Amino acid sequence: MPRTRRSSAPAHPTDLASHLRRETAAAHSSLEESLSLLSQPLDRQRFVRVLERFHGFHAVWECAIRQRSKFAAFHAPRARLPHLRRDLAALGRTTAEIRALPLCAEAERLAGDEAAALGSLYVMEGSTLGGKLIARALADAGWAPAGGITYFDPYGRRTGEMWRGFQGFLAAQDPDRDRAAAGARETFALLEEWLAA
Ligand code: HEM
Repeated sequence: MPRTRRSSAPAHPTDLASHLRRETAAAHSSLEESLSLLSQPLDRQRFVRVLERFHGFHAVWECAIRQRSKFAAFHAPRARLPHLRRDLAALGRTTAEIRALPLCAEAERLAGDEAAALGSLYVMEGSTLGGKLIARALADAGWAPAGGITYFDPYGRRTGEMWRGFQGFLAAQDPDRDRAAAGARETFALLEEWLAA
C-alpha cells in the first residue's frame, strides 16, 4: 500500500525524519512492490524464505551496528535477530539450519559512517510500521505458528511509543543529511536486491 506522504506532511518540513521520509519514498515503494508480501494468498513457504533472507541481513547488519557504530546501546533493545530466530524455529527450521543460512555480507557497509548508519536505522525502525499490516494479514492467513510471526511486528502495542522514541533519538542527532538519506536509500536498495535473490 503506497504511503500517503502529502496527507501527513510534517509541521517542520526540514526535520531529519521528514527529510529521510521524503528522500526514501520511491525506494520504499519499490521495495514494497518487489516484496509484495500482502498478495493473497499469503504463502507459508514464501514467508519462510523471506524470513530467512531477512535473517541473513540482520545477522550482519546488527553486528555491524553493534561493533562499528556509536549507536549500539540505542539499538540493543530494538534488535530483531532474536525475533527472526524464534520465528524460523517456530516455522520448523532447526538451529543448525538457521546457523547455516547465507549472510548478506554487504550489509556491513551500511554501518560504515555515522550518518549512513542513522539512515539505515531509520529504514529498519520504520519497517515496524508497515510490518503491523503484514502481521495482521499473517494472523488471518491461518498457518502462522502459535504466538504468531513476531519479526514484522516486534513491538506490538508499543509500536507507536517505539517509533516516537526513535524520532526523538533522530531529532537529537546532527548528521550530514545527504549522507543519512543516501544511507537510507542504500539500505532499501540492498534489501531489495538481497530479498529477491
Ligand atoms: C508489504 C510490505 C510493506 C508495506 C505494506 C509497508 C507499508 C507501510 C506503511 C503503511 C507505513 C506507515 C504509513 C505512513 O507513515 O505513511 C510504512 C512506513 C515505513 N516503512 Fe513500510 N511497508 C512495507 C515494507 C517495508 C519494508 C520491508 C521496509 C524496510 C525494511 C519499510 C520501511 C518503512 C519505513 C522506513 C517507514 C517509515 C516512514 C516514515 O518516516 O514515516 N517498509 N510502511
